[in-house]
Amino acid sequence: MTSNQVTHKKHGLKALNCLNLEKVSFSWPGGNKVLDQIDLSIPKPGLWMIVGRNGSGKSTLFRLISGILKVNSGKFYCSYKTALMFQNPDHQLLLPSCRSDLLLSAPKNLSRNAVKESIESALDQVGLSGMGARPIHTLSGGQKQRLALASALVSKANLLLLDEPTALLDPISQTSILEIVKRLSSRPRNPITSLWITHRIEELDYCDGAAMMKSGRIDPWCSGLELTHRLK
Ligand SMILES: Nc1ncnc2c1ncn2[C@@H]1O[C@H](COP(=O)(O)OP(=O)(O)OP(=O)(O)O)[C@@H](O)[C@H]1O
Ligand SMILES: [Mg+2]
Repeated sequence: MTSNQVTHKKHGLKALNCLNLEKVSFSWPGGNKVLDQIDLSIPKPGLWMIVGRNGSGKSTLFRLISGILKVNSGKFYCSYKTALMFQNPDHQLLLPSCRSDLLLSAPKNLSRNAVKESIESALDQVGLSGMGARPIHTLSGGQKQRLALASALVSKANLLLLDEPTALLDPISQTSILEIVKRLSSRPRNPITSLWITHRIEELDYCDGAAMMKSGRIDPWCSGLELTHRLK
């Protein structure tokens, strides 16, 4: 049993999902070591934020967690179903309408009715009810980002990897995405686990824990408030 599963047991949580990295290192071919013996696990479901300078390896870490890249050395274990979300929703919304795009994310083993329900429920959860038929090019930037979030929900992901999801949004859309992810991550039934990369210090107010990446390492989790003080 991993240390994370022990933590889950101790807190009486049913979920056995686990992300555990021990002394994980990664270098791009011909490049410097981007991740240098990283230790990382997520103590419990919630909204966990990572900050760090440009080039400190945050997006590379997400690519490893999502399985796009393989670690060079160290122990890596992830039992979550992951969904990546980027700064620019235009990089991940592919089909012409909201519903057709969401259909693409639905697990293949679901019945037509279950898929329909799942799409309606996801649109509802991100505040886009009744917008299934809307052409994606008519959505605002904030609505597109919420649709990307709906797509992660339809895929049944239980670990959201949010790579600066609000970087291109105005303050109102930023708050809306933060509040939706916070709600999904703290709901009593099946809370989603979210890892959120940010350069916007004010977003740390929403997190359940925060960690700093620097020089290829990641610090242990601390409170958002503590990291905010340190960064100021
Ligand atoms: N596809 C790639 N091939 C080679 N090197 C890469 C590639 N992608 C990223 N890197 C390098 O890996 C290092 C870490 O980049 P990464 O994108 O993970 O940083 P980051 O912390 O996400 O930065 P930012 O805050 O600017 O998004 C950088 O030196 C970058 O140039
Ligand atoms: Mg990045």
